[in-house]
Amino acid sequence: MTVELFEKIPNNVNLSADKRLQRALEQWLPNYISWWKEMGPDQFQESDVYLRTAVSVESDGWAHFDYVKMPEYRWGIFLEPQVPGRTIGFGDHYGQPAWQEVPGEYRNTLRRIIVTQGDTEPASVEQQRMLGHTAPSLYDLRNLFQVNVEEGRHLWAMVYLLHSYFGKDGREEAEAMLERRSGDRDKPRILGAFNEPVKSWLDFYMFTMFTDRDGKFQLCALSESGFDPLSRTCKFMLTEEAHHMFVGETGVDRVVQRACELMKETGSNDPQAIVKAGGIPLDMVQRHLHLWFSLSEDLFGGEISSNAAEFFAAGLKGRYKEDGYSEHTGLNQFYEMPVPSEGGKIVMTQVPLRNAMNEVLRDGYVADCQRAVDKWNRTIERQLGERGADFKLALPSRRFHRQIGIYGMNAGNYFDPSGQPISAGEFESQRSKWLPTDSDREYLKQIMRPVTEPGKIAGWIAPPARGINGQQIEFEYVRHLPA
Ligand SMILES: [Fe+2]
Ligand SMILES: [Fe+2]
Repeated sequence: MTVELFEKIPNNVNLSADKRLQRALEQWLPNYISWWKEMGPDQFQESDVYLRTAVSVESDGWAHFDYVKMPEYRWGIFLEPQVPGRTIGFGDHYGQPAWQEVPGEYRNTLRRIIVTQGDTEPASVEQQRMLGHTAPSLYDLRNLFQVNVEEGRHLWAMVYLLHSYFGKDGREEAEAMLERRSGDRDKPRILGAFNEPVKSWLDFYMFTMFTDRDGKFQLCALSESGFDPLSRTCKFMLTEEAHHMFVGETGVDRVVQRACELMKETGSNDPQAIVKAGGIPLDMVQRHLHLWFSLSEDLFGGEISSNAAEFFAAGLKGRYKEDGYSEHTGLNQFYEMPVPSEGGKIVMTQVPLRNAMNEVLRDGYVADCQRAVDKWNRTIERQLGERGADFKLALPSRRFHRQIGIYGMNAGNYFDPSGQPISAGEFESQRSKWLPTDSDREYLKQIMRPVTEPGKIAGWIAPPARGINGQQIEFEYVRHLPA
């Protein structure tokens, strides 16, 4: 597979051989750059950032690290190599050769899947655009920008598919990607969580922990797709996604560690004492965890879903690690699901497996999130073990604070964090205990002052365990900051 690294659009898809496609993408490029300058990181466009850039898809050396000004980042198109003789791994077309072209009958469905995935990429850049002004260290600032440019590249990945396989309407969809805006009342991004404000760095770590992790599961499900180009591009996106989740998981861990250090220093477990010491108390961390976990769970879609059944039947979207299942049609099987009934009581219900595919994917997601929460709790244990750790972080029940689906508040359902049905009034009366409050946000705004000296770190977070790409923590990860 040849890599065209020094073309206007770096790629490993032999773009120069398809002049029409190359021209179309080169026309999209300046529009993308205008979008980036308008909606990408506020200021910092002239800063030199120590970034990794994808230069191939080889597992041992796909990334190159160097200082780059973000608008000059080499956004490229990289697909994993084609697996000769690959067959469709699930659904009604199980065992047939994977599609190299879009099957006519699934054209609209497939386009919708690609647009929905693609839309999340620029959305997250927009959500995070002000965070550069309050970064706790140059290390964190660099990680933010790394995530941002790679989300930009993920947009390129989806736009490449739209341009090469969907003709005129694909090109129109690619334009529309640059026109919607996160949180905009008139032209919002497609999915809920991608219209929520990411105001503080605690939001950012929770977002990269929980929302990017939804991205991982969606990309895994799409990398099973019978549409081979989609499968190949998602596989490579996953290699980049790993770092985004690392930023979130370790970011929360460092906040937790710092809170514990301050509990020891002040000799108090009282959240107010931690606030007084300038840290983020664990109950505030828990409220943000509740929020971003529940918002991210909504991204998987309804628990009982005919769309999910259709995507699976058609061979467009598989399960997480489909290979690990012994049966791949999903027919004549059931998923036992707790479903709220008329009187609010929860009734165990047999749902045809294909209709429960969103929930199957969500199961994998919840387990992966639980693994990270366990790790954070081990940090608390390690820090506070001797004096008795009286606080444990926990995922709420998947019924808690849902906007959509059978547990959704839109259907009039309310649950406490343990999953017990409650009334809307009870939910409201507990809201400030369970979810971030205005005063949490005000406090976070107050303590999030930028720290720009190499090696220095804000007082509300512990330093990272190590630097990026073998560099020291003191390394100057971002140079030429805006005045
Ligand atoms: Fe992404
Ligand atoms: Fe991501």
